[in-house]
Amino acid sequence: MRVLVIGATGTIGKAVVELLQKDHEIIKVGSRNGDYKVDLSSQESILSLFYKVGKVDAVISTAGLANFGKFTELKDEDYSLALNNKLMGQVNLVRIGKNFLNNGGSITLTSGLLGREPIPGSTVVSMANGGLESFVRASALELQGMRVNAVSPVFVKETMEMMGMDSSTGMTAADVAKTYKAAIEGEFHGETMDVRKFS
Ligand SMILES: NC(=O)c1ccc[n+]([C@@H]2O[C@H](COP(=O)([O-])OP(=O)(O)OC[C@H]3O[C@@H](n4cnc5c(N)ncnc54)[C@H](OP(=O)(O)O)[C@@H]3O)[C@@H](O)[C@H]2O)c1
Repeated sequence: MRVLVIGATGTIGKAVVELLQKDHEIIKVGSRNGDYKVDLSSQESILSLFYKVGKVDAVISTAGLANFGKFTELKDEDYSLALNNKLMGQVNLVRIGKNFLNNGGSITLTSGLLGREPIPGSTVVSMANGGLESFVRASALELQGMRVNAVSPVFVKETMEMMGMDSSTGMTAADVAKTYKAAIEGEFHGETMDVRKFS
């Protein structure tokens, strides 16, 4: 398959590329690095990316920004970032990307465990994740000839280490990547795929 990975230069994205490149042709996209660059928060940028890349069999997004913060300290900008980047950036990837998918292709987005299992400080992250998972579930009812899913990662070991946290409860990015492989190679549609079920 010809697979476009947006967020390919990130912690999870690198592991997804590593796993998928054995069997598939991978086009790597980041915001600053990669074969191509895109800004998910801009519809023009997403459209321009697809015009450059052309048709693909699968699109994977391992991108999407949202900040942690105490509820009483969250600013308008924190809500805007989560809504415009993590939520609408990935929603627009489906709205635009569906026109550049070969028949039977798939688009896989990234939400996160905090959508269904929030912690103090996760309000805007949880809001974006919940929105994405509902978007996937509902849009799948109408999207024909293609599949759409969300992968929901738990905390990644490498990320926890980078943040100076105890990483013993985390999952390696390599293990998280297995769920993205299942999403593009399987028959899932309209699902939120919890990485704990696929590693
Ligand atoms: N890591 C975790 O523990 C964890 C847990 C649950 C959910 N998640 C979710 O998984 C996703 C990936 O996380 P990660 O830790 O792998 O992130 P990361 O290491 O920060 O990587 C982010 C990736 O997204 C790209 N990117 C940043 N801004 C972008 C933009 N405006 N448009 C397009 N691409 C952009 C970056 O490209 P450049 O490098 O070129 O800037 C990079 O490839 C995020 O949605 C995150 O919320 C992560």
